[in-house]
Amino acid sequence: KMEEKQILLDMHKEAAKYFYANLRSLRGQQASEYLNKRKLSKNTQKLFGIGYSNMDFGDLYQYLLYKGYEEEHISKSGLVIPKKKGKGYVDRFRNRIMFPIFDVHNQVIGFGGRVLDDSLPKYMNSPDTPLFDKSKNLYGLNYARTSGKNQILIVEGYMDVISLYQAGFENVVASLGTAFTYQQASLLKRYTGEVVIIYDSDTAGTNAALRAIPILSSAGLKIKVVQVPGEKDPDDFIKQNGPEAFQQLLDHAMGAVTFQVSVLRKKYNIEDTEQKIKFTMEVAQLLSRLDNEIERDVYLQEISNDTKISTQSILNEIKKTQEFQR
Ligand code: GTP
Ligand code: MN
Ligand code: MN
Ligand code: MN
Ligand code: MN
Repeated sequence: KMEEKQILLDMHKEAAKYFYANLRSLRGQQASEYLNKRKLSKNTQKLFGIGYSNMDFGDLYQYLLYKGYEEEHISKSGLVIPKKKGKGYVDRFRNRIMFPIFDVHNQVIGFGGRVLDDSLPKYMNSPDTPLFDKSKNLYGLNYARTSGKNQILIVEGYMDVISLYQAGFENVVASLGTAFTYQQASLLKRYTGEVVIIYDSDTAGTNAALRAIPILSSAGLKIKVVQVPGEKDPDDFIKQNGPEAFQQLLDHAMGAVTFQVSVLRKKYNIEDTEQKIKFTMEVAQLLSRLDNEIERDVYLQEISNDTKISTQSILNEIKKTQEFQR
């Protein structure tokens, strides 16, 4: 239904303006201080349309009614939730920093909201609505797609995108805490040939990167990976070390296979014979998927040097795996 979609788009724009003005009012003072503390300039806040949702239960709901939107449409927007008791609705987002989520045409299709302290859940996102499907959108793509860079950086969160953008890395998107999907990968492929995964350098981030690699690869994207030193995310890193240091990380990005092998290398202790065999078998699995023989031989040499297993034995194992895959 085209008409319904248009109404919901108008409503989201209205809501974004409401949150935006709210942040700049007396009620938004604390939120504004929070954003200053996180070193987001006024200009950056404006560019990303950042706002604030009130403490009260139904401010936005009442405002949208006052603006003439029908209850039926308001309820479909995901901006409100039904009251637990009785009729009517309450605002979904309360007392949160509000990040509008834009589609590639710069239209607001949803929101993410962050608490101002350590309470949980830290972030809340719009649910799936007729406008918003989180598996099909990427935060920041509206800017990244016109950045004119030859690669797109993929990070985990809102603050990573905004912080990198502010530091001059405008080619950055976030998958917003969900597992990376094939739809997101093929969306990226429309705008770039190469991506750099820069997830948080904790176990969750490493595992998410490992899962994203085959998906991005199946969309035909060339993949690099950066591991941020220390248990950090790109936002933390760039604030501590500055843009030049971040550029250095980019310049030394690993190939996807190097990253995968390095994760395996940490998982196994190759001083132990059994673990060494397991490690080599898993690496053979990885290398069997490489089409480029030269690339494969480079890794083959490295692994052979590491494990003192002959390249011929590893190669035999790779060949066996390949036959099995056919
Ligand atoms: P900051 O603490 O503001 O720097 O956030 P962060 O982006 O570093 O958060 P984190 O690394 O924990 O999570 C990465 C992304 O996952 C966030 O930006 C959110 O999009 C999402 N996320 C994190 N926590 C939650 C949560 O509690 N609920 C939901 N729905 N998403 C979350
Ligand atoms: Mn988290
Ligand atoms: Mn994290
Ligand atoms: Mn962070
Ligand atoms: Mn993080």
